[in-house]
Amino acid sequence: MHTLPLFRQIFHREPDILARAPGRVEVIGNHTDYNGGLVLGAAIDRHVTVALGRRTDRQVHLYSNLPRRLFTGTLDTLAPVTGPDAWVNYPLGVTSVLGGPSLPAGFELCITSTLPHGAGLSSSAALELATALALDRAFRLNLGRLALVTLCREAERSFAGMPCGILDQGVVAFGKQDHLVLVDARTGTFTPIPIPPEASLWVFDTHHRHALTDSLYATRVCECRSALTHLQGVHHNLTCLTELSLTALQPPATELPPILHRRALHVVTEQERVRQCLSVLEEGDLHGLGLLLNASHASSRDRFENSTPEQDFLAEHLVRSPHVYGARLTGGGFGGAVMALTDPAFSKAHAGTVARAYRARFGATPRCLHTRPADGATVVYAGNA
Ligand code: GLA
Repeated sequence: MHTLPLFRQIFHREPDILARAPGRVEVIGNHTDYNGGLVLGAAIDRHVTVALGRRTDRQVHLYSNLPRRLFTGTLDTLAPVTGPDAWVNYPLGVTSVLGGPSLPAGFELCITSTLPHGAGLSSSAALELATALALDRAFRLNLGRLALVTLCREAERSFAGMPCGILDQGVVAFGKQDHLVLVDARTGTFTPIPIPPEASLWVFDTHHRHALTDSLYATRVCECRSALTHLQGVHHNLTCLTELSLTALQPPATELPPILHRRALHVVTEQERVRQCLSVLEEGDLHGLGLLLNASHASSRDRFENSTPEQDFLAEHLVRSPHVYGARLTGGGFGGAVMALTDPAFSKAHAGTVARAYRARFGATPRCLHTRPADGATVVYAGNA
């Protein structure tokens, strides 16, 4: 059911605001964001939509259609939740960082989504941004998009416990139709980069996630921090890994433990690949872009060790398929999705061939999604605000 009728059915009134935020694909720049680097991403044409109605008391009522659950709390008792209601941590976290108890009133929020959950397409950042935009408008906070991005990342860190970078929230907020978004995590800027219209994006969700995905992500964040601390012993002015040149990582210049050396090598070479992508995009060279995506996957697999056999299988098969420029894991890794950059002739039939090969090997069918770079989060309706 659409968000508006669902809101009416659950809360027996009209909402004040309707806001919508897209999912995202990480095109290239794997684990570079929290290392102060560059990432290219794209908002996609699948969304989380929220309808919000202000209340006159301090109650907060949240309803989601996936899972179908109603959660009730108050502005004065905002705290992270565990168990089957953990989905509320995104809207509750946003409510908390936007002012929590100091907000003028409580509210009712109804959430629907066309974005597959758990597929590495950042449904959590989409829910955060849609909620933040709705609250910002409903309570006339006038915070501005950039501030909302930072606050949503803060909500994800403090309420969902995920020590993420700025990629997801930035791309979800600053996406632009037919453009990629260049995230510069060091300067906190988000720049649209045109992508040739013949470029097509496909996402293959493995439906498989490592049971420890979140803690493995946190481990990588710690490893990068340790590598940085070691290297600062030699390079005294170094503030983040992406400032390093490749030469600075050549032995014997560094005596990093092998694991940390591999992690740093991934980050430094990935940063360079993002730069190269910007040049090939300027020339409209999609073959060149594809080769960089393949190299990125190999580096994630071999040096950052955040791909799974399922993701490696999909990436390898896609690269061998007709009409594919390149393929790589997208997002944090340790399971989730693989994205492919294709020409327009890549069809459902081609996707089906890859899906059948995957099924024959792993006994499950990946979900295939054809998508295109779309606009970022927006308020769709503010009739009563
Ligand atoms: C997740 C995080 C992002 C980023 C990617 C890996 O999507 O939320 O901040 O670190 O993983 O590049």
